[in-house]
Amino acid sequence: MNEMSVPLDATTEIVDQIVRLKAERKAVILAHNYQLGEVQDIADFVGDSLELSQQATEVDAEVIVFCGVVFMAETAKLLNPERTVLIPDPRAGCPMCDMAPVEEVRKRKAELPGVPVVAYVNTTAAVKAEVDVCCTSANAIKVVNSLPDDRILFLPDRNLGHWVQRHTDKEIILWDGYCPTHQRILAKQIQALKQEHPQAVLMVHPECTPDVIELADEVLSTGQMVRWARKTDAEEIIVGTEVGMIHRLQKENPGKRFLPISKLTTCPNMKRITLEKVLWALEDMQHPVEVPDEIAARGRRAIERMLEIV
Ligand code: 13P
Ligand code: SF4
Repeated sequence: MNEMSVPLDATTEIVDQIVRLKAERKAVILAHNYQLGEVQDIADFVGDSLELSQQATEVDAEVIVFCGVVFMAETAKLLNPERTVLIPDPRAGCPMCDMAPVEEVRKRKAELPGVPVVAYVNTTAAVKAEVDVCCTSANAIKVVNSLPDDRILFLPDRNLGHWVQRHTDKEIILWDGYCPTHQRILAKQIQALKQEHPQAVLMVHPECTPDVIELADEVLSTGQMVRWARKTDAEEIIVGTEVGMIHRLQKENPGKRFLPISKLTTCPNMKRITLEKVLWALEDMQHPVEVPDEIAARGRRAIERMLEIV
């Protein structure tokens, strides 16, 4: 039996134990919008990368159990150096982060003296320590436009960088990184779905490719999708992002229908976090996220600068 097919009574027992241990450990559970539905359902707060970093500055718990990928848990740790931050599975990486190794970032910076660097939060803490300011998909345009400079090195997501370029007069120097999950969303799949559902509106994440973005009615971070879905009059909405998003959208808006572009658009790293692993994390206080002192202060500054802008 795999981790996702635990019988209902076992699930209830796991949830009960999580609730008990959470209180004992004075812990709070933060979860990203792409987490498995049952993980979202036991979280104290569910959100996008920006909302989760803002939330991480506001918790008064002793322990943060972070249900998401490593760069998100690292961001929470940077903002909470005194607190224990646990990630239930430390292998939950983000391939986009790995596309911007710190040595290559330093090399590129040296080739572009005087050019400020904006890093998407989907980067390692070591890279955050090398850049001027961070951004998320929710605020990338605002962060870039807040800088006085005419040229900006934007990394690592070329698709988000391309989207920002459409909303600024500055020259955006792109990095060749991308999200493999969003790269799998194809314009031709959307066109076929739109033919089947002519009334449906299309919202997509800015990590999608430019040809997909071209077809969209709205281009939104996952948190912005949640808010937009609540207020739109549309009854059918095509969701161009990771499929975990559908759980929350459908739960909060039972009268509307949310259509995934493909059920295969999953982020395998986000799905590494399961209820059992959340329980084990609380039981054994595993796996603490640590950021070396020599990079923590500079990495924190890049995130705090972002939080001052938004
Ligand atoms: P959001 O900040 O929009 O939630 O996106 C995070 C992410 O990793 C998207 O792939
Ligand atoms: Fe990284 Fe893409 Fe997964 Fe987001 S969906 S965590 S960008 S691999």
